[in-house]
Amino acid sequence: MKLSNRDLFTVIPLLVNGRTQHVKVRSADTLLHVLRSELGLTGTKMACENGDCGACDVLVNGKPMHSCLLLAVEARQMNITTVEGLKDSPMVQAFVEHFAIQCGYCTPGFVVSSHALVTTHPEADDELIKEWLRPNLCRCTGYQEIYDAVRSVLRTNQLEKTDENPG
Ligand code: FES
Ligand code: FES
Repeated sequence: MKLSNRDLFTVIPLLVNGRTQHVKVRSADTLLHVLRSELGLTGTKMACENGDCGACDVLVNGKPMHSCLLLAVEARQMNITTVEGLKDSPMVQAFVEHFAIQCGYCTPGFVVSSHALVTTHPEADDELIKEWLRPNLCRCTGYQEIYDAVRSVLRTNQLEKTDENPG
């Protein structure tokens, strides 16, 4: 049977940054491709497209994942957050205050992954910070500033918690 171009596409609902949108995808389209090309969410960066760099990281059901390794059709039942959805996260401000950005290409992936770290591991120590961020590469090598930004958010969160529950 000959397929027409229309048959190659399917329309799926995607829940991205709290909003469900219906998008036309091909079976082999990655989530990365659909976020950038169909939804215009270009904060998620395209680099190795091979799972090696973390520039494409998004949160999938709260966990950081390389969107270049996930098919868009696989993401249809999932809750996706891109860096645009984290614009109010204190992590963004911390990256600015700690000069954790040079060329900026890796930054969205680091912000997404760091946000997930402080959310799921509020007591993270230096070892865990480094281990957690190992899948994210920065070719400008500004790792210390990135670690400083993450530490500062962890510290602030811990202080706020202590203020709420004074011993
Ligand atoms: S572009 Fe996805 S890990 Fe590098
Ligand atoms: S700031 Fe340039 S790659 Fe990280």
